[in-house]
Amino acid sequence: MIDFLLNGQPRSVAATPDTSVLELLRDTLGQTGTKEGCASGDCGACTVAVGEADEAGKMHYHSANACIMPAHQLQGRHLVTVEGLADGDSLHPAQAAMVACHGSQCGFCTPGIVMSLFTLHEAQSETPAPLTPERLEAALGGNLCRCTGYRPIRDAALTMGEHPAPREAWWFEAPAMASAVQTDAGEADSTPPDERFLQPTTLAALLTARKRHPDAPLVAGGTDLWLDVTQNLARYEHVIDVTRVDELSRIEAATLDDGREGWWVGAAVTYTRLTPLLDEHFPAFAHLLHRLGSAQIRNRGTLGGNVANASPIGDTPPVLLALEARLLLAGPEGERELALDDFFLDYKKTALGEGEVIRAIFLPAPKPEHVLKVWKISKRREDDISALLGAFHWRLEGGVLREVRLAFGGMAAIPKRAYIAESALEGQPPTEATFTAARSALLEAFTPMSDVRGSADYRRLAAANLLERLRRVVVDCDSAEEVMLNAYAH
Ligand SMILES: Cc1cc2nc3c(=O)[nH]c(=O)nc-3n(C[C@H](O)[C@H](O)[C@H](O)COP(=O)(O)OP(=O)(O)OC[C@H]3O[C@@H](n4cnc5c(N)ncnc54)[C@H](O)[C@@H]3O)c2cc1C
Ligand code: FES
Ligand code: FES
Repeated sequence: MIDFLLNGQPRSVAATPDTSVLELLRDTLGQTGTKEGCASGDCGACTVAVGEADEAGKMHYHSANACIMPAHQLQGRHLVTVEGLADGDSLHPAQAAMVACHGSQCGFCTPGIVMSLFTLHEAQSETPAPLTPERLEAALGGNLCRCTGYRPIRDAALTMGEHPAPREAWWFEAPAMASAVQTDAGEADSTPPDERFLQPTTLAALLTARKRHPDAPLVAGGTDLWLDVTQNLARYEHVIDVTRVDELSRIEAATLDDGREGWWVGAAVTYTRLTPLLDEHFPAFAHLLHRLGSAQIRNRGTLGGNVANASPIGDTPPVLLALEARLLLAGPEGERELALDDFFLDYKKTALGEGEVIRAIFLPAPKPEHVLKVWKISKRREDDISALLGAFHWRLEGGVLREVRLAFGGMAAIPKRAYIAESALEGQPPTEATFTAARSALLEAFTPMSDVRGSADYRRLAAANLLERLRRVVVDCDSAEEVMLNAYAH
């Protein structure tokens, strides 16, 4: 059984391990306000808000795509849907603003948009901050509307604070809900809600589950795995959820045996939780996260899932390769560390052994003299997968390039370092001749694929152009990039 709160009411529902939150709502509970558009996390029509209590019992809500969220992950959580917002005839400010601004026409996208506005409203109530264009784009970038156009919806976002809350605000009700949620979550530790959807809370229990059910997929955010259910109609006998495993959920400062300082980021840490660390220490990486999926995806997707998925066009692996990140793998034989470079073997093939899981990813702390740049090329700025991604890490010493690391996504069957091009740059001044040699080396070494996101020729040309952009940034670091970003913005 899944025990959770739906719009403040306790629910206890049985579901197979491959049921999504959307199926649970519409098919089992008859709550059809939440819509299905694409069933692949792209359109946002199915957006719901998921509330979790923090250690102090305070509720925090994040938006999620119900179509690709496993229903069992609701255990002990508060699910808020569009049906739960109004109090009789009194609309929630997100709804009232959408009405006032004419933000809806056919109405199919509207429940999802209202729920994204609801989580924005809750975040604003918790920590008021200016609603900058960037914040609005981040909040609404995962919601598509085919008829209204986005200006009225944006207007609704900007004015919802002027509408009164219909009842005592949600956060005043939070303590009562929080205690119910915490009790349920505590019980879930000893009695899994469904024997076939396993929710271990320790690494030891996770490894035991993996041993008992070797064919069961691991699921973290489900933002890759669940597409197999919705698009390929995969059915699972058992599923093992890693999101409640304590050891996979921490971010810990550490020093490696080779003396490098940094952080072990638990494989089940979501992008949203990772953002403050990246904002502070890796601004270029943080900037990339703003362009990874949508808020709904970043709220649930994890760094471990992105690495384990081993997609050649995954966004974080090239950055992690350029930073020389390491992995901590845990399995029946114990734990082992591995350079990320040794993890990707072939298309979607990794060095993960039988029964192993990724426990954490090591991010080395940046040194002041090093520069990291990350450039993602995709057809759309918001919520789009890369056609190509380049990540570059280097330092300049006495006018020559040192410790150059160049890594690409979309240029081979795996995310890959450009070793020969790195050698062409290492120890050289950043002249046009040096970079011409690096470009030739790059094009020699890579055989990109052609697909809907770009032809092989396009990818080769774009990768060579990224090296030219790199040269300009190296010779005139800040102003060159500012000029390029301004050109892009216009
Ligand atoms: C609409 C949409 C937009 C997206 N946009 C982007 C984008 O812009 N850039 C991008 O890179 N990706 C994007 N993705 C893909 C996806 O969001 C990311 O790859 C994400 O990081 C996957 O993490 P997850 O936690 O959801 O993984 P899951 O789907 O839960 O798992 C992915 C794979 O990793 C395995 N796995 C999970 N955790 C572990 C572990 N600890 N140890 C071993 N194996 C594990 C699972 O078994 C599965 O095979 C998008 C997806 C969608 C649906
Ligand atoms: S139905 Fe489109 S994102 Fe879920
Ligand atoms: S109102 Fe019709 S899709 Fe948005």
